[in-house]
Amino acid sequence: MAQTQLETYITENEARFLDDLKGWLRIPSISTLPEHANDIRRAAEYAAEQLKRIGFENVEIISTQRHPLVYGEWFKAPGRPTVLIYGHYDVQPVDPVELWESPPFEPTIRGDNLYCRGACDDKGQTMLVFKALESLMAVNGALPVNLRVLIEGEEEAGGESIEHYVKTYPERLKCDAAFICDTHMPSKDTPALISGLRGIIYTEIEVRGAKRDLHSGTYGGVAPNPLHTLAVIIVGLKDAEGHIHIPGLYEKLRKPTPEERAFWDDDPLHIGESLLEEMGVSQFTGEAVYPPLERIWARPTLEVHGIVGGFTSEGAKTVIPAVAKAKISLRLPPDLKSREVFELLKRRVKELAPAGVEVVVHEIHGGEGVLISPDTPPMKAAAAALKETYGKDPVFIREGGSIPIAALFDSVLHVPVVLMGFGLPDDNLHAPNEKYSLSQFFKGIRTVARFLQNMG
Ligand code: BES
Ligand code: MN
Ligand code: MN
Repeated sequence: MAQTQLETYITENEARFLDDLKGWLRIPSISTLPEHANDIRRAAEYAAEQLKRIGFENVEIISTQRHPLVYGEWFKAPGRPTVLIYGHYDVQPVDPVELWESPPFEPTIRGDNLYCRGACDDKGQTMLVFKALESLMAVNGALPVNLRVLIEGEEEAGGESIEHYVKTYPERLKCDAAFICDTHMPSKDTPALISGLRGIIYTEIEVRGAKRDLHSGTYGGVAPNPLHTLAVIIVGLKDAEGHIHIPGLYEKLRKPTPEERAFWDDDPLHIGESLLEEMGVSQFTGEAVYPPLERIWARPTLEVHGIVGGFTSEGAKTVIPAVAKAKISLRLPPDLKSREVFELLKRRVKELAPAGVEVVVHEIHGGEGVLISPDTPPMKAAAAALKETYGKDPVFIREGGSIPIAALFDSVLHVPVVLMGFGLPDDNLHAPNEKYSLSQFFKGIRTVARFLQNMG
């Protein structure tokens, strides 16, 4: 294949590739906020337009219960494998907006970085896949494999619609391998393939006390206080040593292999040190008996994301709130199933709740973790592509984050999944000043093109 021609095409078109990404980034497609529903639709149309321009067929915006999916296919490589490509065009909210150095939806270049919400997660990483496809098609007039592309707009809000779609129409997604570009590498010169992700169960605990807010002088001493109840529940769920007190939770956790144990103990890539630096803290909290890598990759964790209730404005108001709520999630290593853990959590919260208040645990969303073998042919094609671009073999590492669709492709479609991403640990995902490295974006295009050629 005309490798130098491909290289030339990519080099000559870098500026336009970047412009196409910027156009997508300007659309504030925040999936969790209902007021952005129209932006979600525009971002979906933008993706569909990209696929049509490349030459994809049957490009469709598929309506769902919530946010639309974008689908396209290309089947003109008879005898070659079919690769299913996944990405997401939705993004996280931007608050606290005052901490952004440039407006969150105005793509801005500083140094080697493009700053914008979604610059990395996942518009930047999805666009680089589109541009790899475009380049292959432009140079060869064809793609090296058959392709299906499925892009969702609900990933950051739980991804229920795509889960329903995959489970209902697995035959529409028939393929030989799935490819997901939504992860990181440890540094610009350490290419990586992801061998595991954690699952998640995201909940809201709602506590109701009196029928209305109460004067804390008149009723203090006899009234239930839902905020205190929440505090009691939260402290009962996880202790100061990071141990989670939910009976049954740790029972299904598998024992690590000797190789995993050695890697986590030795941390040859010094990921632990980088974590301290990234967080800007001097020491780790959590389960001190386990090494940091094990804690972020293979242990369950429980976090409180936010608590609302009572009076939080300036000044003072002597009130006992009638209601309080906390958002709480658990990250789950692949052996722990989100539904089962939700039941265990509900039982434990009930046990911790004092009499006289009403406590309800709502499920917001859940998704499973996954383990991926490095030995499948698609993983080998991916490793070879990374080696060509970066000049060294990739490392196989896990990530603590969650991409529930990866587990679904594994369990419903029964195909090998490749998780290859070009994000960096300091890309500020979900936080102010999210960025994407331009050199990683352009290397990503070359690597994904090579991966698809290797698959063909
Ligand atoms: N791309 C991330 C997951 C990720 C982050 C993988 C960092 C590897 C490194 C994804 O968009 C994400 O944020 N997922 C959510 C899932 C949830 C909303 C179901 C997460 O992990 O919080
Ligand atoms: Mn993502
Ligand atoms: Mn994300």
